[in-house]
Order: sequence, then structure tokens, then C-alpha cells
Amino acid sequence: MNNFEYYNPTKVIFGKDIYDQIPTKIKSATAGNRIMITYGGGSIKNNGVYDAVMKSLSDYEVVEFSGIEANPEYDTLMKAVEQIKDNPVDFVLAIGGGSVIDGTKFIVSAAKYDGNPWDVLTMKKGCKFEYAVPFGTVLTLPATGSEMNSGAVISNSRLKEKRTMGGVQGFPKFSFLDPTVVKTLPQKQIANGIVDAYMHTLEQYMTYPSDNLLQERIAEGILSTLIEIGPKVMADPGDYKAASNLMWCATMALNGTLRAGVAYDWSTHMIGHELTALHGIDHARTLAIIAPNLFTMKFENKKAKLIQYGQRIFGLEGSCGEEAIHRTKTFFESLGIKTKLSDYTDDYQSTSETIRKRFEDRGWEGIGERKDLTPKEAEKIVEMSI
Ligand code: NZQ
Ligand code: ZN
Repeated sequence: MNNFEYYNPTKVIFGKDIYDQIPTKIKSATAGNRIMITYGGGSIKNNGVYDAVMKSLSDYEVVEFSGIEANPEYDTLMKAVEQIKDNPVDFVLAIGGGSVIDGTKFIVSAAKYDGNPWDVLTMKKGCKFEYAVPFGTVLTLPATGSEMNSGAVISNSRLKEKRTMGGVQGFPKFSFLDPTVVKTLPQKQIANGIVDAYMHTLEQYMTYPSDNLLQERIAEGILSTLIEIGPKVMADPGDYKAASNLMWCATMALNGTLRAGVAYDWSTHMIGHELTALHGIDHARTLAIIAPNLFTMKFENKKAKLIQYGQRIFGLEGSCGEEAIHRTKTFFESLGIKTKLSDYTDDYQSTSETIRKRFEDRGWEGIGERKDLTPKEAEKIVEMSI
């Protein structure tokens, strides 16, 4: 088993009728009374979450920052950063999906940073967020795992860039996970959530056999659970058993557990982020476009794991790697997720070349679990995905 360090300080409060516990959890993070709530385009006002959370915050002075977009925008977030710098708050509560939570991670970090925050996102040497205003989350969309990890992905549409950030300051103090919120989601977002959680699991599994048998079986447990409950949540988002399993799978898929002691490969996400940056395609859909072709391109590297996956998850027999890839694609499509780039845009002619050049410009000679997926191969994978 590989050596590893495992740390996750986020407290999770999971279940129904939990929002009245929000004040107690804020008190354990700050003695202050001035709270900023952050949210997106208004879904929380339509589904009752805003009212329920505001009711719980009645003893606090609350300021609001709304309008955080799907794929949160740097320029929008900087307005919140300025707001906090001008008029500090004691705590920030993010209410939303991955975009609001990621955006909030950036806001609380940049609000305590003296330099240019964009330098941190572009990994300029010596630039790092280290401190943050404490924050917590109320999750409304099970997908990214951002509610229990320290990462964030920030977009800059002026530059057509999408960049990641991380660091211990990015862990929420707590996250409230109420699965009844799933019934308020559009079908498209439920499908996105299932695929994103599935791909987070695969990115930490589809490498080469590790000696961490437990981690592999936890990953397989998440994959099997998502295949079992995914169609049920789609058919009936009010099915609490299915929705609560989706929510917990999505959190567990990216809270640091699966990566402990194993190899991982975030190449699908790295290429997928470029598709969102260039074409605005939903995050999960970019993964469904890229993963099957990436697994095909790196088949020899991943063969043993593809066979293990095919046998354990789909009950296949023998050397079933290719069929396992096919089943994966079929699963995504069964949720209504299209798996070709041309299903989403007609403007794909220069996409593969642009992505290769971007990777070269960043000095990424090789990515993936063996650091051997070259920019040229990334270009080919995108071509195969058209
Ligand atoms: O803005 P509002 O009005 O809230 O609407 C949102 C948004 O339009 C809506 N929504 C959320 N909860 C809802 C709801 N609509 C009705 N009822 C509800 N209960 O859904 C839309 C999409 O929301 P968004 O937060 O963008 O989706 P998701 O959670 O999939 O987040 C995607 C973002 O997370 C990043 C992605 O790159 C993307 O920017 N990721 C973050 C990761 C992390 N921090 O660890 C890892 C992931 O791999 C991913 O990259
Ligand atoms: Zn993802």
C-alpha cells in the first residue's frame, strides 16, 4: 500500500430537518455575529432552503451575496471579496451546489490574501492562500463533494480559463446535507450529479491495481451504489432512500477517503475543465465525453483495473476491459447524458489543438497515474471524443 496522510476536519450534519442546528455549529466556529450568506441564481428562494436557513439565522446580522454562477466566475467572486475587505464578516455560509461552495472557498481565501488572487489560481511561484474567513455550507446539489473537501474550481470567461485551487483553508467547518433537497433539482442536474460522483470515484480507481484492497472495495461500493440508485433517483427524486444514498455517495467520492494509499489519475477532469472553459459544457457532461476515450487511449496502462471493474461492477467475465468501457458509456447515456463533443457544440474544429497547446504552455509534459499522458495524447483523446 502507498504511504498516505489522511485529514478531513469538516463536520457533516446529514438528514432531514437539520437546519435548526446551524446556529450551534456557527457558534463553535466563531463568537462573532456578522454572517455573510452566499448563493447562486435563486434556486434556494424557490425551493424553501433560503427561508429555512434564514429562519435559523434570526439571531445573526446577515449580509447576502448572490448571483454566483454555475462555473463560478472570478470577476463575480471578486465583488464579494471587496465587500468583505471593506466590511469584514465573522463567518460565511455557502448555500448551493458545487459552484456556490467553490466560489465561497475562493471568496473566504482571497479576502485574507494581500496579493493578486489570480496568481494563486495560475500557480505563480510563491503565491498561496493560507488563511480564510471561516465558512460552512448548506448543500443543495449532490455532485462535486466540495462540501467535504478543500478544493475549488474557478472560471474566468474573459480568458476562457478554468483553474483549480486547494489547501487546508478550503475545508468547510461544517456542511449540512439534507437529501430531501434532491426532489427540487431539475433532472439534468441529478444526472450531472450521478455522473460527477461516478467519475470522481473512477479517477481514483481506474489506474493500476493497488495493495489497498479496502480503498478499492470502497470505490467499487460507491460505483455499484450509484448504478443501483441512479435510475431510481431519476425516476423519483422524492425517493428518500435513493436520494440519501446519492448524496452520501457524492460526498464520499471526493472527501479524501478514496485516494488514501492508491494511485489516482485526474486526466479526465483536467481535459474536461478545458471543454467547460472553451464551450461552457456542464462539468459532468465533459467527463462523460472524455472518460471512455481516455480509457481506450490508455487501455494498456489501465487494463488490469478495467478487467477488475468489469468483473466486479458489471458481472462480466474474462478479459472484459473493452466491454467495461462500453458499459460505462451506456450507463451515462441511460441517464440522458450525451457522450460526444459534437452533441454539445458545432464549434469543435480547433478544440483538441487548443487543449494540447494549453497543456504544453503550462509545462504539463505528462499527466495521469504514470505521468505519461502527453499533451499530444490529450489532443488525440479530444479528437476521438468528437
Ligand atoms: O444558481 P442556482 O440558482 O442555485 O442554480 C443552480 C445551478 O444553476 C442549480 N441548483 C443547485 N441546487 C439546486 C438547483 N436547482 C434547483 N434545486 C436545487 N436544489 O443547479 C445549477 C448547477 O449548479 P452547480 O453548483 O454549478 O452544479 P455542481 O454542484 O455540479 O457544481 C459544478 C461546479 O463544481 C466544480 C465544477 O467544475 C463546476 O464548476 N467542481 C468542483 C469540485 C470540487 N470543489 O471538489 C470537483 C468537481 O470535479 C468539479 O470540478
Ligand atoms: Zn468532477
